[in-house]
Amino acid sequence: MPSTFAVTVKPAASMRGRVRPPGDKSISHRYAMLAAIAEGPSMIHGYSTGADCASTLNCLRALGVPIEQIKRDRATGIQLEILGVQRRGFQEPTTTLDAGNSGSTMRMLSGLLAAHPFRTTITGDSSLRRRPMRRIIVPLERMGARFSSDEGKPPLTIQGTDSLHGIDFQPDVPSAQVKSAVLFAGLHADGITRVTESLPTRDHTERALEAFGAQVLRGGTSVAVRGDQRLIGGTFHVPGDISSAAFWMVAAAALPGSDVVLEHVGLNPSRIGIIDILKRMGAEVKTVIAHAQAGEPIGTVHVKHAGLRSAVIAPEDVPGVIDELPVLAALATHGGELSVSGAQELRVKESDRISALADGLRLMGASIDEQPDGFHVRGRNRLRGGEVDAKNDHRLAMAFAIAALGATGPTVINDAGAAGVSYPEFFTVLESLRV
Ligand code: S3P
Repeated sequence: MPSTFAVTVKPAASMRGRVRPPGDKSISHRYAMLAAIAEGPSMIHGYSTGADCASTLNCLRALGVPIEQIKRDRATGIQLEILGVQRRGFQEPTTTLDAGNSGSTMRMLSGLLAAHPFRTTITGDSSLRRRPMRRIIVPLERMGARFSSDEGKPPLTIQGTDSLHGIDFQPDVPSAQVKSAVLFAGLHADGITRVTESLPTRDHTERALEAFGAQVLRGGTSVAVRGDQRLIGGTFHVPGDISSAAFWMVAAAALPGSDVVLEHVGLNPSRIGIIDILKRMGAEVKTVIAHAQAGEPIGTVHVKHAGLRSAVIAPEDVPGVIDELPVLAALATHGGELSVSGAQELRVKESDRISALADGLRLMGASIDEQPDGFHVRGRNRLRGGEVDAKNDHRLAMAFAIAALGATGPTVINDAGAAGVSYPEFFTVLESLRV
């Protein structure tokens, strides 16, 4: 669990430098889970240093998966060796699993546990225990597993089975975690399991499954897997997390004279919505794709400040920038204007990200209106700074820090340690980029 501490962020004139962000959180979870159920050993390079991805490893270890940390390096993150226990190879755990703050761990691992014929309980911290789980309970029960929960919230107890059957599923909310949980269960089910989404979500699971040797059938917004497939371990390199890089992209776009290069960034088309929005808001952004690893494009992103304009984020844009909306709100406090709708999912993230974001930015002096499904920020005046609460939410802790760079006075961010959930190095990097 990341420690709780407060950080004071002072205003900055501009930000300059080069940063390699930590390994992608979404891809790290998926590689660890797939390596765990694959045949043979896997070597994973650049695994996320965030606490969420450590929660996935702790849960997998409790299920009998041998995992060794080979090294941990400031520049390239964590290198892991995971010995695959093969299909249905998890051991019944002797304790309750702890997913910490990580919704991805709880939801995606539930898809694998649904296929193991024993009972597992998974819980998490106070934030995770408030998050909705019916979205995975409903499809996994249709496939044959049984769940008990606290009215759809964690702790979850999963009674898995070795006779899952494939389903055709249309989730109510576009969610890559839900899609992945169902596909992970589908790998162990009779017949074909298909997920059809109303809006496309990040496709790391589809790409990772192919990299581990599985066949994935894709068409339009549908994705399907057959249940009798083998996964084979191998060597995998996790790209840098664009959602962590987004903080520096926004800082560079926000402050006059800024020039920041992000290196080794994952540029999967389902994740690069932030780049389009930054350009729409006036930043100068250049992207170069250098190569691809396991089907994931990787490259550099170069951002320079060039004034700030207004932008509108419509409901269909939301899945592509869901994790970047707090820092995009922070950008609009520096100038320009941002209006977001169709983002009601933000209310059930690590915090109620609409109201906690509006409360924090308003305390710092921002003009922000809150709506049930979004917000509207007008960057008319410079922020004052002040004292805000990150509410146990990593993305809010970091978004407030980026807003604070443009204030006239210092900002105290309580619970800033929450940043460690995805980016433990965040506040050190911030100071290194400050001019
Ligand atoms: C994630 C999907 C998104 C995102 C989360 C990570 C993933 O959540 O917000 O940070 O790795 O699949 P939802 O699936 O709830 O939209």
